[in-house]
Amino acid sequence: MSAFPKTSALMARGAEFLGSETAILCGAMSWVSERNLVAAMSNAGGFGVIACGAMTPELLDAEIAGTKALTDKPFGVNLITMHPDLFDLIGICEKHGVSHVVLAGGIPPKGSIDALKAFGAKVIVFAPTLALAKKQFRGGADALVIEGSEAGGHIGPISTSVLAQEFLPELAAEHVVFVAGGIGRGDMIAAYLEMGAAGVQMGTAFACASESIAHPDFKKAFFRAKARDADASVQIDARLPVIPVRALKNKGTEEFAAKQREVALLLDQGSVDMGEAQLQIEHYWAGALRRAVIEGDVENGSLMAGQSVGMVSAEEPVADIIARLMSESEAALNRR
Ligand SMILES: Cc1cc2nc3c(=O)[nH]c(=O)nc-3n(C[C@H](O)[C@H](O)[C@H](O)COP(=O)(O)O)c2cc1C
Repeated sequence: MSAFPKTSALMARGAEFLGSETAILCGAMSWVSERNLVAAMSNAGGFGVIACGAMTPELLDAEIAGTKALTDKPFGVNLITMHPDLFDLIGICEKHGVSHVVLAGGIPPKGSIDALKAFGAKVIVFAPTLALAKKQFRGGADALVIEGSEAGGHIGPISTSVLAQEFLPELAAEHVVFVAGGIGRGDMIAAYLEMGAAGVQMGTAFACASESIAHPDFKKAFFRAKARDADASVQIDARLPVIPVRALKNKGTEEFAAKQREVALLLDQGSVDMGEAQLQIEHYWAGALRRAVIEGDVENGSLMAGQSVGMVSAEEPVADIIARLMSESEAALNRR
């Protein structure tokens, strides 16, 4: 019998889908969501997801093997749809029999969902609109994450609360839908579960867990930050549609404006096409995030963080974070 019966009952569908004890996913975070955090998450009864990001197939191969050495619980792999070697990465997931693959960063290219389902993987997708969500379910997606603009990292324009009201009443009865973005306490988890969500995905709350390999200075920046410090980047040039990124304000966020101008100039000169321009922007983010997470350069690197960062104030083991979230959710449901 669960220590959190009401929450566990509402999470049952999501937990069954994930094969985990609780339906709390730790969303993939490039550089942060590697074997240690992913295994810790799954071992603690949540669901860890490896962030493939810009990794080569060889690196992903090693990361999956390393994660399997640390946990025998299920975990997922997050692949970015615009990765040039997407189908090779899918092949690596197949080699390891990865049970859940999250396709992020855009609408999955033709054949990718089929390639994953061919070896039995469950496919989790994102969708910016209800119509695209329905289309992806028709195309074989097994679950959906709706992620609001409060989240850390790349974001869409709509807040989590509005997405939840638009998507859950339409989809939640028939489909597995996880809610992400701005969740910092169990009270919020309880609310989305009551609206029909199968579970939640969180990033910011787990980025600085004890098991996270993020640099101590990266973690300190999170512990100091308030909600208003986690700002969305602005698009400098109308021709270059960059996806906004939410991160703690620093010199690096200012430098991103200069990077956009540089890439826009290359577009003008015709030396790159739009696809290449967007890839350059994404490489910029991957590099900047690495500087902050791995090297601890919190001035110039990217401190991707969601608005819930204000609720992260100390390093805690993943198991403690999950236990606190579950107990807050249960207390909220008991007050109803
Ligand atoms: C530091 C950081 C890096 C992230 N990197 C990725 C990524 O590589 N791929 C991805 O799909 N989402 C990425 N995200 C988003 C998370 O997976 C998750 O959906 C998000 O953090 C949830 O919102 P929250 O931050 O409000 O909890 C990142 C988030 C953060 C904070």
